[in-house]
Amino acid sequence: MWPRRDKFPPGPYGGLKGWSFGPLNENPLEFFCGLARDYGDVAGIRVVNFRSIFINHPSAIEEVLVGHPRRYVKGRVLRANRHVFGEGLLTSEGDFWLRQRRLVQPAFHRPRIAAYAETMVQYTQRMLETWRPGEERDVHQEMMRLTLQIVAKTLFNANVAGDAQDVGKSLEQLLELGADFRRTLLVPHWVPTPANLRIKREIAFIESILYRIINERRASGRDTGDLLSMLLHAQDEDGSRMNDKQLRDETVTLFLAGHETTASLLSWTWWLLAQNPHVEAKLHAELDGLLSGRAPSLEDLPRLPYTGNVITESLRLYPTAWGLARIAVANHELAGYPVKKGMGVAMAQWVVHRDPRWYDAPEQFRPERWEGDFVKRIPRFAYFPFGGGPRQCIGNSFALMEATLILATVAQKYRLHLAANHPVVPLASITLRPRYGVRVILESRQRRTMEHFPKASQTTQAMSAD
Ligand code: HEM
Repeated sequence: MWPRRDKFPPGPYGGLKGWSFGPLNENPLEFFCGLARDYGDVAGIRVVNFRSIFINHPSAIEEVLVGHPRRYVKGRVLRANRHVFGEGLLTSEGDFWLRQRRLVQPAFHRPRIAAYAETMVQYTQRMLETWRPGEERDVHQEMMRLTLQIVAKTLFNANVAGDAQDVGKSLEQLLELGADFRRTLLVPHWVPTPANLRIKREIAFIESILYRIINERRASGRDTGDLLSMLLHAQDEDGSRMNDKQLRDETVTLFLAGHETTASLLSWTWWLLAQNPHVEAKLHAELDGLLSGRAPSLEDLPRLPYTGNVITESLRLYPTAWGLARIAVANHELAGYPVKKGMGVAMAQWVVHRDPRWYDAPEQFRPERWEGDFVKRIPRFAYFPFGGGPRQCIGNSFALMEATLILATVAQKYRLHLAANHPVVPLASITLRPRYGVRVILESRQRRTMEHFPKASQTTQAMSAD
C-alpha cells in the first residue's frame, strides 16, 4: 500500500534549528494536528539530534502496535519517569514485562472486576450525598476524588483508604511535575534541582506507606478480595511470586494509571453533555426508562447502550490518553519509510479520532454514530483510546465499567450546567485533562429550579489550549 522511500520523511522542522521543541512542548495537540494537515499520514520530526516519525494512518499504527511490537519500546517521556513507575507494567519491557503482565492479568478478568461495580456505585452515591442543588463545584476535582477513592478501595481495601488518599495526593504532584516534558527530557532525575528534590520526597513518602501496607498484608496472609491480594497471591509458572519492589512498582502504576484517566474522561463527558442538551435528554430518557431512579448495577450496563455510546464518543473527542510514543530497538520499514534503531515513532489519538476520513462531522459530539455496525465500517485503529496489541491498557474494562456506572448514577440525580465565565481548556500533559477544571452549577433533576442557571450560550468556553 505504501510506496517505498529511502529518506527520512519530510517535516516542518529540519536541520539544526531545533526550535520545534517550542510548539511541541507548548501546544502538542495543535502541533500534531498541524503535522497531519500539512504532511498527511507520515511526517518527520527533528528535535535537536533526535528523529521521530509521526504516523497518522490506522494501518501504520496497527503495524507498530500489533504487527511489530517487539521492535519498539516505550517513548522517552515514559522512560524518563521510570524512577516513579519503576518496573511496573506501564514502563517495563521485554520478558520481564511479559511475566508481570501474566501475573497481573487475572486481577482484571471480568468476574474479578465485576465485584467492584457495587463499590463504584456506592462511592458515587456517597459523593452525591455531599452535593446540594444550586451549588457551584469543580466537577473535575469531584471526579478526581471519586476515582481515587474507588481505585484505593479496589486496590487496598477500606481499612487503608486514608493512607491511599495520601498516596493519591502525592501521585498527583508527581504527575504534575512529570508532565513538564521539557524538564523531564532535558534534566536527568538525579540532578538535584528543586523539582527533582520534590519528586524524590514524594516518592519516598509514597514508598513508606506502600511498603507498610504490603508488609501488613503479607503478615496477615488474608485474601481481602482487592487487587493487592491478587498481586500478592499471583504465582508464576515456576511457583515464584512478586517481591516487595515489584509489588510497589505495580501498585504505584495501577494507582496512577487507574484514576486520573477515568476522572478526566468523566470531566470531559460532563462538559460535552452540558453543551449538547439533545444528547443529555436522550441519555436521561434511557436512564429514567430502565432504572426509574434506582442505582444502576453491572447487569444493567448491556441495557444502557446510549449511555455506553456517550462514553465511547467522549473518549473519541477527548481521548484521555491523547498520544503514544515508541522508540525503535530494531530497524523497521514503516509506511514505506525506513525507521532506524534509536528513532522515535509517535501517533496521536487526538488527531486520528478527528479525521474526516473516518468520522462525519468529526468535531461534533454524536453518540448516535456508534449505533449499528459503525465500528465494523471504520479501520481498526481509527479508534484506539486504550492503545492496542500486547501493550493495550490492562484496565480498559475496569475504566469503561466505572465511567458508565458513575455517569448513570449521577445523571439520574443531577444536570450539570457550565458556570459562566469559566474557560475549559484542554491540557495535553501525560493525560488530557481540563487545565482549569470544569466549574458547574448543580441542578437537581428531582426538583427543577431553572431560574438559578445561566443558559449554555451565556457560558464562556475556550476550546484551544492557551
Ligand atoms: C479512560 C481510562 C483509561 C485510558 C484512556 C487508558 C489508556 C491507556 C493506554 C492508551 C495505554 C497504552 C499505553 C501504551 O501503549 O503506551 C494504557 C496502558 C495501561 N493502563 Fe490504562 N487507561 C485507562 C484506565 C486505566 C485503568 C482504570 C487502569 C488500572 C486500574 C489502567 C492501567 C493501565 C496499565 C497497567 C497499562 C500498561 C499495560 C501494559 O503495558 O501491560 N488504565 N492505558
